[in-house]
Amino acid sequence: MKRATASILLGILVICCCNEASNAGDRTLYKDPNHPLNRRINDLMKRMTLEEKLGQMVQIERSVASPQVMSKYFIGIVLSGGGSVPAPQATPEAWVDMVNELQRGSLSTRLGIPMIYGIDGVHGHNNVYNATIFPHNIGLGATRDPQLVKRIGAATALEIRATGIPYTFAPTIAVCRDPRWGRCYESYSEDPSIVRAMTELIPGLQGDIPPNSRKGVPYLGGQDKVIACAKHYVGDGGTTNGINENNTIATWHQVMSIHMPAYFNSIIKGVSTVMVSYSSLNGVKMHANRDLVTGFLKKNLRFRGFVISDWQGIDRITSPPHANYTYSILAGVNAGIDMIMVPYNYTEFLDGLRFLVENNFISMSRIDDAVKRILRVKFVMGLFEHPLPDYSMTKYLGSQEHRELAREAVRKSLVLLKNGDSGQKPLLPLDKHAPKILVAGTHADDIGNQCGGWTIQWQGQSGNITSGTTILTAIRKTVDPKTEVVFSENPDSGYVKQNGFSYAVVVVGELPYAETNGDSLNLTLPEPGPGIISNVCGSVRCLVVLVTGRPVVIEPYLGQIDALVAAWLPGTEGQGVADVLFGDFGFTGRLPRTWFKTVDQLPMNVGDEHYDPLFPFGYGLTA
Ligand code: BGC
Ligand code: BGC
Repeated sequence: MKRATASILLGILVICCCNEASNAGDRTLYKDPNHPLNRRINDLMKRMTLEEKLGQMVQIERSVASPQVMSKYFIGIVLSGGGSVPAPQATPEAWVDMVNELQRGSLSTRLGIPMIYGIDGVHGHNNVYNATIFPHNIGLGATRDPQLVKRIGAATALEIRATGIPYTFAPTIAVCRDPRWGRCYESYSEDPSIVRAMTELIPGLQGDIPPNSRKGVPYLGGQDKVIACAKHYVGDGGTTNGINENNTIATWHQVMSIHMPAYFNSIIKGVSTVMVSYSSLNGVKMHANRDLVTGFLKKNLRFRGFVISDWQGIDRITSPPHANYTYSILAGVNAGIDMIMVPYNYTEFLDGLRFLVENNFISMSRIDDAVKRILRVKFVMGLFEHPLPDYSMTKYLGSQEHRELAREAVRKSLVLLKNGDSGQKPLLPLDKHAPKILVAGTHADDIGNQCGGWTIQWQGQSGNITSGTTILTAIRKTVDPKTEVVFSENPDSGYVKQNGFSYAVVVVGELPYAETNGDSLNLTLPEPGPGIISNVCGSVRCLVVLVTGRPVVIEPYLGQIDALVAAWLPGTEGQGVADVLFGDFGFTGRLPRTWFKTVDQLPMNVGDEHYDPLFPFGYGLTA
């Protein structure tokens, strides 16, 4: 009797639980990873209010983000702008804590849609103290080694995940056609085929898409990978005179043969997001270019990830920027931008967007398209299953293995442009056993200078801003212990003559810059660089190592210089420079760009009719 009652009770209990489970299952279909992607997206979409949808389309900067803001406005993404960190020299644990604090705000909402945290990873995890800083893209272009770039992508993904972040705004697949452009170093090459090959960074960052999988869909290979962003769509590297954010004048054939090809590769490789360019194409702002964003990228290329604006990119649709913000929202969203990097005044954006939707200037189907794409990426990332990072990956930040990889990349990026005059004994490889050598120049002992822009700060900064090996330290470690290495940043010629140096290494170049601040119409080597070259090279046999983001005016000094190496912006691992200068490894790098004689030749790219370079594209001696 007792037993029967018990079993009946148990039976009722089981039925209740099953009901409970199936109700719960129904309520949270979108949270169940066993359901197909599209069912999850549609299920979640059905439950969302207009407010919840519009919030997903907003990206804000971490300095204005808080758990309250995340939950009140249903914010889709938070980013770190250049140099925006939770605290100076923050540990990876502090980064993880910050991400989690904001994420808890998002998870506390009715539907619990997690936010994505995003950050630039222009040459490694570049805002983060103690991260491995890889050579800027121009140096990677010189390596001609896409597999190396893929490995750099994988290492960068681990370092970004070390800080709890799953999204990076990289790679820049601009094809820089004029070195006067301040972002030329972010470009792998003037040659579109090199840029195409280097989209291998994407499977490095995101993981390889499974063979025979559908193309054009966003992808993430696991929680040790990050989603990538091909930028800046399209034609950013083709502006007139290399003026940043300006107008690219190009025929359709030029667009399709120069600036567009790397997007084909990126999309085929499953890039999850694409960032729109500040620049215009034939007078039309890309942020308002419906034909190319909705028409070509989404319809023709069948890109299924989300399209993100650049920083205040919609503001810059008008000149002056922000002159008519309502119009900017209208033009940007209707062009097909899904995610808006507002990034500060999110209420102004949300109010404007809501007004435009409620008054049918922007259709609900446009909003649904945007939100579906954003949710698709979030589901693909496994973000609903793994919203809160932990400390388990902090060990990857600046790891020895990654520094070795960066050092290898530096070695392969160096381009030897001159090695003695003809009939002369070559200066390279340098003699490790010389009794006494001079090292000079503003870039010989400066981590910040050798990293360039987008390092710790948006603009970069001179000085020992993060850990790494300067070129001077690397030289000291490489030469014979008996060799005396004298460092004098800017010696006068008398000193150089009187001190019995066997030879000198002069390391000079550009000071750090990013974006418009780097635009230069003259491309001259800043002082005291030229002065140091003449004082030293006029007095002793010398090697000049250029630390620059692009070819600079060098022809006037070439006669005084015995040997010349382009080191680009090598990053934190200066040991890679010494490895090759002293012959432990050979030179294999080749020019990823044409080296001009005078700036009035510009623009001048390989294949041009009046091609008359100082050093042609592809040039590079071996020693
Ligand atoms: C740059 C982008 C970058 C964004 C966020 C913009 O100024 O053009 O390349 O991803 O800032 O830092
Ligand atoms: C931010 C950068 C951004 C730039 C855009 C800066 O204040 O730190 O991330 O790229 O503004 O102009």
